[in-house]
Amino acid sequence: MAEAQYDFDVLVIGSGPGGYVAAIRAAQLGLKTACAESRETLGGTCLNVGCIPSKAMLHASEYYDAAASGAMAKLGIKVTPELDLPAMHGQRLDAVKQLTQGIEFLFKKNKVEWLKGRASFESADSVKVGERTVRAKNIVIATGSSVTPLPGVEVDNAKGRIVDSTGALELAAVPKNMVVIGGGVIGLELGSVWRRLGAAVTVVEYLDQILPGFDDDIRKESNKIFKKQGFEFKLETKVTAATASDKGVSLTVEPAKGGASATLEADVVLVSIGRRPNTDGLGLDKAGLTVNQRGQIEIDHDFRTTVKGIWAIGDVVPGPMLAHKAEDEGIAVAENIAGETGIVNHDVIPSVVYTMPEIAGVGLTEAQAREHGEVKVGKFPMLANSRAKTNHEPDGFVKIIADARTDRVLGVWIIASVGGTMIAEAALAMEFGATSEDIAYTCHAHPTHSEAIKEAAMAVTGKPIHI
Ligand code: FAD
Ligand code: NAI
Repeated sequence: MAEAQYDFDVLVIGSGPGGYVAAIRAAQLGLKTACAESRETLGGTCLNVGCIPSKAMLHASEYYDAAASGAMAKLGIKVTPELDLPAMHGQRLDAVKQLTQGIEFLFKKNKVEWLKGRASFESADSVKVGERTVRAKNIVIATGSSVTPLPGVEVDNAKGRIVDSTGALELAAVPKNMVVIGGGVIGLELGSVWRRLGAAVTVVEYLDQILPGFDDDIRKESNKIFKKQGFEFKLETKVTAATASDKGVSLTVEPAKGGASATLEADVVLVSIGRRPNTDGLGLDKAGLTVNQRGQIEIDHDFRTTVKGIWAIGDVVPGPMLAHKAEDEGIAVAENIAGETGIVNHDVIPSVVYTMPEIAGVGLTEAQAREHGEVKVGKFPMLANSRAKTNHEPDGFVKIIADARTDRVLGVWIIASVGGTMIAEAALAMEFGATSEDIAYTCHAHPTHSEAIKEAAMAVTGKPIHI
């Protein structure tokens, strides 16, 4: 039962991985909870137009590529693939439907009320959702993020020429040429989907290397691998204008630091230069809240905003824009609201790019670690890992960065076919304050890709077995 003057103990605004998880945990803790969502379906960006549909297309296109590129023939399986793009989209939509309906089921099971409609603050403890105004003792803002627009390059997903990630998931035909603006996570994942299905993909990146935020060795090596796969890169280049017609898109590009412009032609252009927090129309001013220079809602260690009773989590607050970070914050904020101690260790948030091979990291890059003091680095190539070699997956390596004095692991970086799964071990080790020696003396099953983590840990002291 909520206190008499309130309709709910907790109102969560937004049902993405941050919001729905916060709502379910709050209800599990006995709090009367509602979740406002303006989309037709629950699950936010992640389930509807992000993590899940992109992985559905990555998974399917990987099989197609393995058949088309001769990788399956190498295994003694001769196939000539025929692309059924509508069926590929169908299985994507099916995955989205099943998972978003799954959240609806979990809401019913946990007695979380779904308030359908766009939410806007009327005051610090009342929110209008559609026609209804509700009062809540605690309000969690989990409104997520949307695509950052690029001036001069207008996205029109319906026309399918200049698209954002949502449009790029739904293309009705494989483009002959695709230009991706931004060599970050979305550009490389969705660029991979369409390259595998037959598009010639050019990535235009403003910086001197792809994947900002990742370890420098990883950035360089992944660039090489993507080039080998057929990606073309135009680094230190910016797009200044784009004109779309029925036939395609004409782009004007310039060196990032200035210089003569050139023209690029493409059937389809994907704009993937980052995302920005969703706060438009939320009526933050009525609640007494402001945003910082990056449009984010600032919070303290416990996810409290500057206004009592209002909390915020996920993409709308500072930090990496990742679903699992939002989920963990969702659990922690609900526990804090319930008077428990909810904590997220923001130093140990893994990050994965789901290309082939996968690119993963957790903790500090080597450059960041060196800013804090002396480090030791151990590296092990996947080429020397028996399972990767047997599976014809020679690309990549594991890199472990440890404190030179204490041997404590500060960062782990991986390029490997299953790097996204392998990184969980590294995160667990770091969460428990492991040293490289702890990892090196932990028995790893053979033959697994994960043995490369053990060997990289052994390499920190210069004693790997297999290189
Ligand atoms: P969101 O998931 O954005 O959810 C916010 C919800 O709030 C939305 O449903 C929105 O409709 C609703 N909302 C907003 N304002 C209001 C309002 N005023 N009233 C009512 N409802 C409102 N992350 C990963 O970790 N792994 C991945 O593989 C991955 N892949 C991605 C692929 C793509 C193409 C994209 C675009 C993103 C991907 N991400 C991935 C990022 C991930 O989707 C986000 O980090 C995550 O969804 C953030 O969760 P959130 O709960 O903060 O917000
Ligand atoms: P991003 O921040 O990963 O990459 C954007 C890239 O665009 C950067 O390399 C940046 O330097 C470049 N850029 C910026 N302005 C540019 C310009 N004008 N011209 C050329 N390049 C420019 O952002 P992205 O890929 O759009 O993804 C958004 C968010 O979604 C990320 O924060 C990411 O965390 C999340 N996401 C996560 C996934 C995952 O975890 N696997 C998958 C997809 C998205």
